[in-house]
Amino acid sequence: MKTQLIVALDVPDLKQAEDLVKELSPVVKYFKIGMQLFTACGPNVVRMVRKYNSDVFLDLKFHDIPNTVAQAALSSLRLGVSMFNVHALGGDVMLATVIQAINKEIEQTKQPSPIVLGVTVLTSMDRQQLNRVGVIRSVKNEVVGLAGLCKKAGLSGVVCSGKEIKLLRRVMGKDFILVVPGIRPLEAKADDQKRIVTPTQAAEWGADYIVVGRPITQATNRIQAAKEILSDLNKA
Ligand code: C5P
Repeated sequence: MKTQLIVALDVPDLKQAEDLVKELSPVVKYFKIGMQLFTACGPNVVRMVRKYNSDVFLDLKFHDIPNTVAQAALSSLRLGVSMFNVHALGGDVMLATVIQAINKEIEQTKQPSPIVLGVTVLTSMDRQQLNRVGVIRSVKNEVVGLAGLCKKAGLSGVVCSGKEIKLLRRVMGKDFILVVPGIRPLEAKADDQKRIVTPTQAAEWGADYIVVGRPITQATNRIQAAKEILSDLNKA
């Protein structure tokens, strides 16, 4: 499968989210709903995206005790979300409980399996910050270790930075899904992203999905910006 584009709906209300989805859904299949928008609008924003026949990545990074996260995962599935994520630091029991709950529901309802992603180390964390919360491994070893935990528990893949694609692809194998934010086309501003890669690099290195926000949502011509990124992905 070619690398797919997910557009991040990082806007504060339903109206602005719907304007983006209405405009972009003819060319973009996946939209990411994060904490800001979901906290403001709730499940209605997922229903709105589904109304445009688009798919939702619910980026709420669940992290709680196993039963609570498994129930949140089931609520996501019942809402029609096709991708969601959980913190790998929730532990292997929590990860396995989520997968067990999802598999049981899928078996009963015969609906398609969602993509369940692990969040390893937030890209805002460096080694010093990790040390201060008691993590002694290097960032790289922590990412690989947590990704391995996710794979063993049956998760579909992880969210990772562009700089981690090659390493994770090599260590985790070809079927492990890599979803990559922090993407900037060559001509775009970096904004607050530090370790950016281009859509072409991400695709060539083995990303399955890239997440792009501001380079599309704040472009003067949003459809054109999305089309250019899609064309880069198709050429890679
Ligand atoms: O506007 P921009 O393309 O930087 O948006 C990237 C999106 O991906 C945002 O929703 C951001 O929260 C998310 N993200 C990220 N880096 C991570 C994880 C998620 O930029 N490590």
